[in-house]
Amino acid sequence: MKKRIAPSILSADFSQLLSSIELINQSRADWFHLDVMDGCFVPNISFGMPVVNTVKKHAQKPLDVHLMIVQPERYINDFKVSGADILSVHYEACTHLHRTLFHIKEAGMKAGVALNPHTPVCLLKDIITEIDLLALMSVNPGFGGQAFITQTLEKIHEARLLISEKKATTLIEVDGGVDVLNASKLFNAGADVLVAGTAIFGAHDPLESICKMKNRT
Ligand code: DX5
Ligand code: ZN
Repeated sequence: MKKRIAPSILSADFSQLLSSIELINQSRADWFHLDVMDGCFVPNISFGMPVVNTVKKHAQKPLDVHLMIVQPERYINDFKVSGADILSVHYEACTHLHRTLFHIKEAGMKAGVALNPHTPVCLLKDIITEIDLLALMSVNPGFGGQAFITQTLEKIHEARLLISEKKATTLIEVDGGVDVLNASKLFNAGADVLVAGTAIFGAHDPLESICKMKNRT
């Protein structure tokens, strides 16, 4: 199974954004992870389309855009135009999730669904085959630098089981509190993609952290 790392630019130094983007371009990371927060769905505001646009201009890897916003269906086309390759919405923010996923794919992006720590995986049983990326939140969304919620390991197993039962092709992403110490455990449990912010941009040697996350088995 391919191990993917998606550095979250939320933890990058925004006064040096271009050099952070170039660092990730040169690294063994696979995607850019961009956390969009509206101060309503989550108690924090991060950035929106102009930053996604800027990253897209310089990035040589796909953009994995994580929307932590209410009514995300209002902005599907805007994020497509800004350069998102994968667009994830929160299960908890979508009344008509099936329609929203359809619109994301119709716009030409991969469709992702993120689950808050308290939301069970089994709620996705009737829609898993439509989901390209399932993001299991291993912290309460809104901030970088929080501690990993260990119960996520069980959710990775549950997600794997559901995906194979339904013969889905969904990738499992784990987002929040990922570091060089827990990465191998998460990959071994069945994660396909690990998002990491603090553990990469807060590290003395970000390139080495990315390698360690990918290599440890
Ligand atoms: C949390 C975000 C995460 C966050 C990860 O709301 O969705 O992507 O940036 O940051 P770390 O790796 O510092 O927990
Ligand atoms: Zn995220």
